[in-house]
Parts: sequence; structure tokens; C-alpha cells
Amino acid sequence: MGVDLGMDVGLAPKTRASVDLPLDPAECEARAKLAPWLARQSTGPRRLMAPGPDAQELALLLQAASNVSDHGRLRPCRIVVADGVQREHYAAAFLQYAASTRGLASPELLEPDVRDNERAKAFNAPCLLSVAVRIATDNPEVPPHEQWMSAGASLGALLGAATALGYAGKALSGARVHHPAVRSVACRDGELLACFVYLGSKSSNC
Ligand SMILES: Cc1cc2nc3c(=O)[nH]c(=O)nc-3n(C[C@H](O)[C@H](O)[C@H](O)COP(=O)(O)O)c2cc1C
Repeated sequence: MGVDLGMDVGLAPKTRASVDLPLDPAECEARAKLAPWLARQSTGPRRLMAPGPDAQELALLLQAASNVSDHGRLRPCRIVVADGVQREHYAAAFLQYAASTRGLASPELLEPDVRDNERAKAFNAPCLLSVAVRIATDNPEVPPHEQWMSAGASLGALLGAATALGYAGKALSGARVHHPAVRSVACRDGELLACFVYLGSKSSNC
């Protein structure tokens, strides 16, 4: 049994999801409980300020991300919290990526503003996470698409839980995630870098 609100959640623009239904107390309560999921909205890394989640909160966010539907308990998704050293490694890798996309032999040859921009991508937002995914292609019970669904559920749970704690964030990938220097910063052999997640507090002027 289900309630059909006549919406295609996968394809409908967000505005169509906010159906005008009469507000009764039970619905108000349900809306309040679901507020983090109903109101979640991405905020880009440059607009994410301190504070970000502390170590205790991060541990809970990772727990939420791991507590998702996962056929065969393959745990396809591993989320890595970047410390200062890892951010420096990402900065160096982003420079390598930028040089390679411009056909330059070395990051030293990049224009100064490009260098600054690339480095900033590694240091924006108080919290930077890497979503590493390992997909088993030889599992007869759990095809790759089910593993990707589980990894996506982890990302959704992470962002939902972060919103519930009052933080904002955004998942970002881009072509850089496929560059070997970038991927190798946080990924182990056989893992793909699915995306970065930036978390922090929404700046007041956005
Ligand atoms: C795995 C993944 C990677 C993404 N990478 C990018 C990206 O590189 N650039 C981008 O503009 N949006 C990217 N997005 C989409 C944004 O995170 C965001 O969901 C989108 O801008 C819609 O905004 P909303 O979350 O507020 O609805 C990605 C989403 C996912 C799930």
C-alpha cells in the first residue's frame, strides 16, 4: 500500500515536491522530524565557514553513512576525513591535474591565479571528506548497480545527518576525481574516488 502524490520524485523539479496540503498537527510533527531531509540544500565549498563538525560529530556522521542498505554487506563506500596533511596532498594533486589538463609539463608552469584557485579547492570549507568506492564486478548476487546504490545511500545519509546537525555541504566530483594523482591521495588500490564532500556552516550572506 502506498500514497501516490502524483509526483515523479526522480524527475520533478524541487518546487513540485512541496505540495500544498492542509497542515494538521500530525503533519506538522512529521515535517518537523523530517526537516533535515525536506530542507536539505547544497552549499558550495566557498560559502562554507567554521565551525564544521568536530571529531565526535564526524564519527557520528560516518556511522550514519555506514548504516545504510547494503546488499551482501559489501560496504562499497569508505569515507575519509582529510586532515591538514591530506589537504596539502590534495593541493599538490590538484596542481598536477591542472597542469595535465593544460598540457603543461609541470605545475610550476601554471599561471599564479590558476595555482591559487586549485590550491583553494583543497582548503575551502572546514571539513573535506573523500568518498571512496570499491565495486566488486564478480559478485553473482550483488551486481555493480546495487553496490553503487548503497554507496549513494551512504552519501545521502551523510548529507542528511550533517543537515540534521545544523551543517551544510555539497558533494562535488568533476573530472579531477579520475586523475591518478588525485585519486591516490585517499583511495586504496581498486577504489574509485566517487566525489568529495565539503561540510561546514552556511555563511550568513548566502
Ligand atoms: C556524486 C556526486 C557528484 C557531484 N559532483 C558535482 C560537480 O562536480 N559539480 C556540480 O556542480 N554538482 C555536482 N553534484 C551535484 C551537487 O552536489 C548538488 O546536488 C546539485 O548542485 C543540486 O543541488 P541541491 O543538492 O541543493 O539540490 C554532484 C552530486 C553527486 C551526488
